[in-house]
Amino acid sequence: MYLPPDHSLDRPLLGYIKGERLSVAIDAGSSAAHVGIFYSELDNSDLPLPDITILTHSHWDHSFGLAAIHGISIANEVTCRHLREDKRTPADELYRSYISEDYSFLRKEYSSPDSLVIASPDISFRDHLLIDAGGIVIELMHAVSPHTDDSTLVLIPSEGILFVGDASSGEIISDADLETGGRYGKEELAAFIDVLRATGARTIIHSHAEPVAAEDEISYLEGILAGL
Ligand SMILES: [Fe+2]
Repeated sequence: MYLPPDHSLDRPLLGYIKGERLSVAIDAGSSAAHVGIFYSELDNSDLPLPDITILTHSHWDHSFGLAAIHGISIANEVTCRHLREDKRTPADELYRSYISEDYSFLRKEYSSPDSLVIASPDISFRDHLLIDAGGIVIELMHAVSPHTDDSTLVLIPSEGILFVGDASSGEIISDADLETGGRYGKEELAAFIDVLRATGARTIIHSHAEPVAAEDEISYLEGILAGL
């Protein structure tokens, strides 16, 4: 199951996989409030709170809820490095770094720098990690992506499902980029398309959009690549 994205606040989808032994969430969300809504939904469905939360990347809307999660968190080593840097940065400086005339969403979630609580992940991995949750295996891979240098893709091989976070998007610098899909680098996009193919996934789950068939996603991205 998953908590769908909330476009009014640019909150991403939060994923959930229940194994026989472990429950695993995908992304910590934007804030403690976001985590609270997600956990209420789990409670309403009689599902246990996550034992493990995987971060797809370090951007604030995926990671600033980390201090409020249940259980432990896992991210690739670059995401961990980015979040350790955020944690060391004075709150008002960090706040300003995410807010500009062109990008407004963090201000909607946090009215002031004082309300930011930054945590860094408990466990880091390099390149690949497998989690056996009991009856279901979850594969994490740190992949090249046009969106950021720290994208983790989360594959459920038995289901052919791939959570990509924002990895299919280009780089997002302004609100306008959210509308256009972001700014793509040719090399990163070509490499990312190869990674998508190699996973063998049938369904792609984005953080800020509806799930899509992998073949449609690859065709769409190839169209963008051809125009670069
Ligand atoms: Fe992002």
